[in-house]
Amino acid sequence: MTKIYIHTFGCQMNEYDSERMEAAVLEDSGFTLVRNEEDADVIIVNTCSVRKHAEERAMSYVGRHVKDKKVIIAGCMAQSLKKDLKRQFQNIHAIVGTFRFDEIADIIKKGGIYTEEDHNAYSVNIKRAGKVRGFVAIMQGCDNFCSYCIVPYVRGREKSRAFAEIREEIEMLAKNGTKEITLLGQNVNSYNDKGMNFPALLKELAKIDGIMRLRFMTSHPKDLSDELIDTMASDKKLCKHFHLPVQSGSDKILKAMNRKYTTANYTEKINKIRRKIPGCAITTDILIGFPDETDADFQDTVRLLENIRFDDAYVFKYSQRPGTAAAKMNDDVSEENKKKRVNYILDLQKKISEDINNKLTGSEAEVLVYSVRSGEARAITDTNKRVYIKGVEDLTGQTLMVKIVEARAGALTGGVIK
Ligand code: SAH
Ligand code: SF4
Ligand code: F3S
Repeated sequence: MTKIYIHTFGCQMNEYDSERMEAAVLEDSGFTLVRNEEDADVIIVNTCSVRKHAEERAMSYVGRHVKDKKVIIAGCMAQSLKKDLKRQFQNIHAIVGTFRFDEIADIIKKGGIYTEEDHNAYSVNIKRAGKVRGFVAIMQGCDNFCSYCIVPYVRGREKSRAFAEIREEIEMLAKNGTKEITLLGQNVNSYNDKGMNFPALLKELAKIDGIMRLRFMTSHPKDLSDELIDTMASDKKLCKHFHLPVQSGSDKILKAMNRKYTTANYTEKINKIRRKIPGCAITTDILIGFPDETDADFQDTVRLLENIRFDDAYVFKYSQRPGTAAAKMNDDVSEENKKKRVNYILDLQKKISEDINNKLTGSEAEVLVYSVRSGEARAITDTNKRVYIKGVEDLTGQTLMVKIVEARAGALTGGVIK
């Protein structure tokens, strides 16, 4: 049997794609999966192009293994660089872009370059093992072309999956023990299957037996509708959490980023969410050091974070991506300034997250246990906060009421009360 190892870089969409490739590999009787590079005959590297650093890590990983093993480069770098990768690594076994994952078993056997876009990698439902928390893609691609971002070039135009297919995949996962589903898409708010929009999809999926919670990412703030907020407020299965990347607190920078909202629009939407869904968690992404980000622009971002008080923020240093609109702008914020600003935001956000989480001490929450390791359970609230619970036996997959006894910026500690 040929032994396959899959190594994943990048976002949740890539993790999902890797899970699907694993499932496809297991369906073929000639293959088996192994847990590390040393034991493998074939290594599949699922790559990310979003920042230069991510590409460098993947390239050095491929470089380390390509002499001794059959290596397949999959994912976003495969899609954007195509034949260039072949030039760089002449004995690479295969290159598989983001549209061709479902053929992976064949590709392992044949080798070659598979980057045509006239294909839908999610058109068949592969039997997957049910983890307590599972991912399901509802769309792929992006039409927004934020000026800094490579994703529209590596994932193509927005394509929604058919509702029936999504339902079938979630029903299959539910049968295999999955309790919570995260719906994935570069911009889930623009889901549209023959007139069925995203709120309508959520309502239908919430009816599936066995699924206790639904969450999703990512929503583009410009497309966040009142209908979605009302839908979220109306069903307990829809988790109280929005990940709404704001990127910057400066309207000048938001315009140059082509984000199509202002800080005022954005703040208004946050206020609406908080009014209609009390206790709803809100997290964000911040992009630091975009071209022409002055100290004053940066201070606007600081003020926005202080005003909105996100539950958490993922902070990224701007990285110029070839072929994007921003690549024509001058990458003029010095590395030193970028680092200083990133660190300032990380410190500020840590204080805010700690403060928000501290206020939860003494409160009760319903949590879903997703793993247990050496007597400590890891669970998740519907507001997407991790809770550690000591001294419980294997309760994986169960929901519990806990009392929060301790809080940090990244996680809570709880005791079981029911
Ligand atoms: N579709 C999502 C974002 C996907 S990329 C959305 O619009 O919200 C995830 C995050 O990576 C982005 O929110 C952004 O903060 C960051 N990112 C994207 N391009 C980047 C770049 N060129 N340099 C640094 N960070 C980037
Ligand atoms: Fe990139 Fe913008 Fe699309 Fe998100 S919405 S994937 S940041 S282009
Ligand atoms: Fe995800 Fe990176 Fe591709 S963020 S969509 S794996 S470029």
